[in-house]
Amino acid sequence: MNLKCKHALAVLFCLIVTFGNAQQSADEVAPEGSTALGGYAASLAVAAAQTLKAEGLPVEAQSWMISVANPYAAQAGAAVLAAGGTAADAMVSAQAVLGLVEPQSSGLGGGAFLLWYDAETGVLSSLDGRETAPLKANPTLFQDASGAPLKFFDAVVGGRSVGVPGTPALMQEAHRRWGKTPWAGLFSSAVGLAEDGFIVSPRLAEMVRADADFLSRDAESRAYFLPEGQPVSQGQKLVNPAYAQSLRALAGKGVAAFYTGDIAKAIVEKVRNAEHNPGVLSDIDMGLYQIRERPPVCVGYRGYEICGMGPPSSGGLSVGQIMGMLEAYNLGAPTEADVWRLLGDATRLSFADRGRYIADSDYVPVPTQGLIASDYLRQRSKLLAGPRALTEVSAGQPEFDHSLDLADDEAIDLPSTSHISIVDSYGNALSMTTTIENAFGSRLMVGGFLLNNELTDFSFRSHRNGTPIANRVEPGKRPRSSMAPTIVLKDGHPKVILGSPGGSRIIPYVAKTLVAHLDWGLDPQAAVSLPHLVNRFGAYDIEAGTSAETLAAPLEQMGYEVAIRGLNSGLHMIAVTDSGLLGGADPRREGIALGE
Ligand code: GLY
Repeated sequence: MNLKCKHALAVLFCLIVTFGNAQQSADEVAPEGSTALGGYAASLAVAAAQTLKAEGLPVEAQSWMISVANPYAAQAGAAVLAAGGTAADAMVSAQAVLGLVEPQSSGLGGGAFLLWYDAETGVLSSLDGRETAPLKANPTLFQDASGAPLKFFDAVVGGRSVGVPGTPALMQEAHRRWGKTPWAGLFSSAVGLAEDGFIVSPRLAEMVRADADFLSRDAESRAYFLPEGQPVSQGQKLVNPAYAQSLRALAGKGVAAFYTGDIAKAIVEKVRNAEHNPGVLSDIDMGLYQIRERPPVCVGYRGYEICGMGPPSSGGLSVGQIMGMLEAYNLGAPTEADVWRLLGDATRLSFADRGRYIADSDYVPVPTQGLIASDYLRQRSKLLAGPRALTEVSAGQPEFDHSLDLADDEAIDLPSTSHISIVDSYGNALSMTTTIENAFGSRLMVGGFLLNNELTDFSFRSHRNGTPIANRVEPGKRPRSSMAPTIVLKDGHPKVILGSPGGSRIIPYVAKTLVAHLDWGLDPQAAVSLPHLVNRFGAYDIEAGTSAETLAAPLEQMGYEVAIRGLNSGLHMIAVTDSGLLGGADPRREGIALGE
């Protein structure tokens, strides 16, 4: 082993280069079992990353890095990057593995938003792979016969909540635009793991146990997650041959196999015939699905450009609004309650605008530029002058040449989802947040993957006192999201790649992590580990069991209601510094950063 290979993290690099050289043809999906990396030394590299994470230290690298929610997915992406693949190639490989080992959060049956910084052109692009409502869906989709909104889980479980998945099309579109590695070979790791088996993680086992009732309503979900009536357990080896078959179809025929072939047929049949809550998805809906390129949303902050995803996600606009409002204030240190007053009330103001104005801009005119105009943010920022919690928070009146006469939304948005951050050896950067919405989505399983319940991100009500809600259900529309894949630029170059799961808490998780890094100078691991304090609608959520609890009393004195609770983010972050790449993975989840 040469000198470079002695460092624990470098072992990974040496192995994957060896793997890359030995690989016969990336066009062939490995026939059996080859998980791009296997054996002791790869485990060592993962163990090294896990040790650094446990010690609160960032992973360092010079050339490429991936930070993602599961070690198997990190290894798959790392293997592609080390063999000269781009961040788009690595994302395809990592996403295919995530759909197997973290099936509760994302996969082929879901949707995603992706930001791409292109090193060659210096252009930042954003792709919308959001699920779409079937053409037969209408604003009463989640209402009972009297027009009252359904209870959340009555809407979620079954076929009614399933939108046309966007993730497979997004994987292929990103690869078509920015990939270098042949498509089919990118599925080798996932196919190998699905056929030979992967070890069930503590998090997956616990989530299956907690969700056993809902999962057992669908025959395929029941057979896979609860074989012989018992939840799969931590440490158990699990195989998923149906998933391997779906991946092989995708690898061999591209996404046509998913949207028009047997997989599409199986999805439509499953949704329409769901025993509980059948839906209206059709083969026409599947065949019409398209990825949409959207203009990224960027807001200046202390010399940086904070860039994110525009509508139908609220992520980029809301994070941008928060940062834009905070810019006028000195954010001191994370130990100061007044700093959290500023962060909390800036978030509340942004959520008021989000609830009123943000929806799928193909259906509802959204005042995108008005919401982040510097004059507007300056005016909203003045509301934060303090020193107490805002007693009234309502949507503002951004500049717009259309009517702003809309009612406030009340979509529930419970945490699930996953995030992938990647920098490749060419200097490209990718930030992608990926989801099937609620944990285990609709609980319907087809072809070894779960179908989303993304349509419950729409407002269940369509109107309030006769005024329409922007985010109401409409045929072919995309539900509003909170997903906030973020790339921070400085002088046109990427400095931070970041995102998180967490439902609508994604927005404050991402904003506070940006403040932790850009204002307080915390490295990516320290920034993602920082205890959470998040406020969306007035009550201050403080992360239980952390030093943040000491801020409860001063925040209460400022007028906030305080709730001490678990706050389950999944932040994955890479910082591009003058001396190389630094990566962090959220200690609240199982992910790691790997790099070389
Ligand atoms: N379903 C999570 C989100 O889109 O925000």
